[in-house]
Amino acid sequence: MNPELQQRLEKLEAKYAATGQDWLSYLDGLIYSDYLSYWDYIHLDVLLNLQQPKTKIPDENIFIIYHQITELYFKLVRLELQQIIDMGTAPSAEWFDIRIRRCVRYFEALTKSFAIMSDGMDKNQFLQFRMALLPASGFQSAQYRKIEMDTTSFQNLVDKNERHRFNSESTISEMYPFIYWKFGATDRETGKKTYTLIQFEEKYSEELMILAEKRVNNNVWSVFESLKPEEKTESIKKSLRLFDLQVNALWPMAHFGTAVRYLKAEPEEIAATGGTNWMEYLPPQLQKRIFFPTLWEEAEKENWGKTTQA
Ligand code: HEM
Repeated sequence: MNPELQQRLEKLEAKYAATGQDWLSYLDGLIYSDYLSYWDYIHLDVLLNLQQPKTKIPDENIFIIYHQITELYFKLVRLELQQIIDMGTAPSAEWFDIRIRRCVRYFEALTKSFAIMSDGMDKNQFLQFRMALLPASGFQSAQYRKIEMDTTSFQNLVDKNERHRFNSESTISEMYPFIYWKFGATDRETGKKTYTLIQFEEKYSEELMILAEKRVNNNVWSVFESLKPEEKTESIKKSLRLFDLQVNALWPMAHFGTAVRYLKAEPEEIAATGGTNWMEYLPPQLQKRIFFPTLWEEAEKENWGKTTQA
């Protein structure tokens, strides 16, 4: 018998013997199983059936598909963040840096492609189909919130006006009621929580609280802090700054500009789908959400949401 074939058969035998299974049955399985196709592998039919517009207005398809694309990119980001967290205190500086750079690239792709939203839909069509989507909003993207929890200490996610009340000793249950996005979902008329937020909390609060607890001292920043001083290279700091800038300034700027284009109508802006105070809430210079505050100069933090350089 061909020695290469012999070697592989021995490996297969050893693999199945280790779990007490009959390897010859698996070989039979190989004989009968069909070849893999591209469309089955990526579940193409399912994927292309995931777009179910609520109206017959053509541009609603762009809106749905771009949101789905974004959620897939968010998933890619979380896969990297998860790997970093799972490596805990052991990663090499270079390995860490490579993964953060990947996250930067994913967000860069989102920021650059946001023109698909800002310039790529007919405004009149948008204003029509959005009324059929109430009260759903990208605000309800749980992955977006999870990326934040994976990346930084919870304290940095507290609303900027309340942040001073907490420190590294504060517990998640003390801080959670003050998480920044709860302030972004108040009804402009009544000052009460919007239904968009109520819906979101009903579905995700428990899950997000559990994740927040899991991420105490176990997030991307804490992994970075655990690196030896000589491993905290300028290259890694730069990558972390780029990631911070992308997630907390450049993407929000592109997103806010889009909301302005579609929803701002003089003299008063058109109510957003979630009915929120979005004009005061969305601009990054007002939110001042920063993942890695110690990596930025005071002046850079002052100008957050205006600077585009890391
Ligand atoms: C024409 C396109 C878009 C418009 C006009 C728009 C508008 C808005 C508005 C007004 C809000 C504030 C909450 C509300 O009142 O609903 C919001 C929040 C949000 N949207 Fe969009 N959006 C657009 C596209 C997108 C896309 C493609 C995504 C990708 C998932 C997205 C994700 C988000 C997120 C994550 C928030 C919460 C931001 C935060 O809490 O700081 N949006 N959007």
